[in-house]
Amino acid sequence: MADLNQPLGRLRLGVNIDHVATVRNARGGDVPDPVRAAALAEAAGADGITAHLREDRRHIRDSDIEALMTQIAVPLNFEMAATDEMQAIALRHTPHAVCLVPERREERTTEGGLEVAREENRLAHFIAPLAEAGCRVSIFIAADQRQIEAAARIGAPVIELHTGAYCDAYAEGRFDARDAELARLRDMAAFAHDLGLEVHAGHGLTYDCVRPVAAFPQVMELNIGHFLIGEAIFSGLDSAIRRMRAEMDAARRDAFGEGVA
Ligand code: PXP
Repeated sequence: MADLNQPLGRLRLGVNIDHVATVRNARGGDVPDPVRAAALAEAAGADGITAHLREDRRHIRDSDIEALMTQIAVPLNFEMAATDEMQAIALRHTPHAVCLVPERREERTTEGGLEVAREENRLAHFIAPLAEAGCRVSIFIAADQRQIEAAARIGAPVIELHTGAYCDAYAEGRFDARDAELARLRDMAAFAHDLGLEVHAGHGLTYDCVRPVAAFPQVMELNIGHFLIGEAIFSGLDSAIRRMRAEMDAARRDAFGEGVA
């Protein structure tokens, strides 16, 4: 694996606004408005907005996707399960990016990566029309060589590595597991890049644990939501996003020197 001593490019921050919609839906009305949060995120320096339209519509609604597509200038990363219903919605809106995630009704959040290796044929056919329509297809997967190879074989240009296991180990003070997960993410980011894939990462990232992931030279984008929306309660969304951006920039500077972000 090629060892890079400079990052491949500027590290983008995608802000996931799902949990603004979670709070809204707790009362069933229109506030707080996730589209307003997206506009604020954009003003605070987010490079993109991420939103997951779940099959059960537990947070983001169809109308939110419509509004995000027309009211937000930064690219939308549309997270969805690989179902016919979602494919039709994606093809109707043609967002900048479509990120395929696994979905189980009983889960609280996206608990694992997509099983690409077992569904290679179906997924290859599933993503073809999305790519043809101009969407950049990304696959949310565990840092697992088999899954990464399968993602490359089906022709996805981007993978997003699931950082949840690393973040959980970090938060729970399981240092050996934390270090093992981080090493796995580092190796698999390099492996994926060597296969020609663009590498993104996300899930569970906080101010405390973001830096080591932000310092991987192959990682081009982090998608962060739950922590930022929670932190916004205390410091405001603008401040939370700016501080996360500062942590990411500091990680890049520490790893690669001044002038690199
Ligand atoms: N990336 C993907 C593919 C996700 O499914 C999620 C969670 O919806 C995130 C990033 C953001 O994770 P978190 O909300 O824990 O920051």
